Amino acid sequence: MRILMVGFGVVSQSFAELIMNDAKKLDREYGLRPRIVGVVDKNGAVVVPDGIEIPKLLESVRVSGTLRGDGSWEYHEGVSSMDVISDVECEVMVETTPTELFKGEPGLSHIRTALGAGRHVITTNKGPLAVAMPALMELAHHNDVIFKFSGTVGGGTPVLDFAKKCLEGSKIKSISGILNGTSNYILTRMSAEGVAMKDALAEAQKLGYAEADPTYDIGGFDTAGKLVITSNYVLGTSLSIKDVSITGITGVTQEDIKRAASKGNVVKLIGKVGGRTKVSPEEIPKVHPLNVSGTFNAILFETDSAGDITLVGKGAGGRETASSVLRDLIEIRRAFAR
Ligand SMILES: NC(=O)c1ccc[n+]([C@@H]2O[C@H](COP(=O)([O-])OP(=O)(O)OC[C@H]3O[C@@H](n4cnc5c(N)ncnc54)[C@H](OP(=O)(O)O)[C@@H]3O)[C@@H](O)[C@H]2O)c1
Repeated sequence: MRILMVGFGVVSQSFAELIMNDAKKLDREYGLRPRIVGVVDKNGAVVVPDGIEIPKLLESVRVSGTLRGDGSWEYHEGVSSMDVISDVECEVMVETTPTELFKGEPGLSHIRTALGAGRHVITTNKGPLAVAMPALMELAHHNDVIFKFSGTVGGGTPVLDFAKKCLEGSKIKSISGILNGTSNYILTRMSAEGVAMKDALAEAQKLGYAEADPTYDIGGFDTAGKLVITSNYVLGTSLSIKDVSITGITGVTQEDIKRAASKGNVVKLIGKVGGRTKVSPEEIPKVHPLNVSGTFNAILFETDSAGDITLVGKGAGGRETASSVLRDLIEIRRAFAR
């Protein structure tokens, strides 16, 4: 299985480490022998058709912050990712560039090009899916390739495939969830310690949970993107992020938190499909299964025959999200083997 990595940051480096450390197990249990034949980031690329030595790759990024290496491969400085995607022979492209939720770029062009060239694609990047998921699914179908994106919702928690595979035969009536760890951390701190919103945000940024620009997280956009992906994948809708009514947590005050507490409730940022698709701060009872604390994510599937089922897990993290990329790769391998 020849893999081209587009983007080589936190998630991709963890993925490279995972396939390196588990190489024997992957071969023994799944007949999977992944070989990274190309890596491209914003600054350049390395292409080695026989497979790049992963320890050297990780060392290069650690020491120099680039893919330049120690001279054992040719480094193509300044080469464009689109050229690499078109030129490098591979079976699978793993796309992990930064998320942009309104145009979906650069991931959208990367994924379109790879699917169009007959490559299977795995991505953890929500942007292209939030903007153009139905078109991308159609393109994959048309080219007879597999398009997987487990890591886009729930990090390592297998939200999408759980709903799709494990709930077969049940009708899912609604989906609601806490899908953004940063917002949940802030609301948890506001409610547990009486901290003001701006102090809780500063704390989240200091701990590395929130970006310097936290708009996507606290504005509710990240939750909306994940909701679109979940609804389209699980319920077969054709939503884009423009179809979601979005209110973030920026307007939530200590007074709101205290008023909710006086009724035995907590304020949470909830994304919900089933009726109107929306993201907004809502009061839920303290004993509700979605009342998870800190950076945890939770998603509740209301079904007709299996009752309500809630999945709880870490919604992010390099290693956790890399595990979902690996799950997707194993699924592609299985499809190959048929
Ligand atoms: N980290 C998590 O816990 C997590 C969880 C779920 C989903 N995700 C999503 O997964 C994706 C990757 O996350 P991450 O944390 O690994 O991000 P990251 O550490 O910021 O890595 C992004 C990588 O993409 C590269 N890149 C940027 N623009 C590019 C371009 N035009 N062409 C090629 N490469 C480009 C960057 O290169 P430079 O270093 O040269 O800028 C970097 O190597 C994001 O979309 C994120 O939202 C992350």
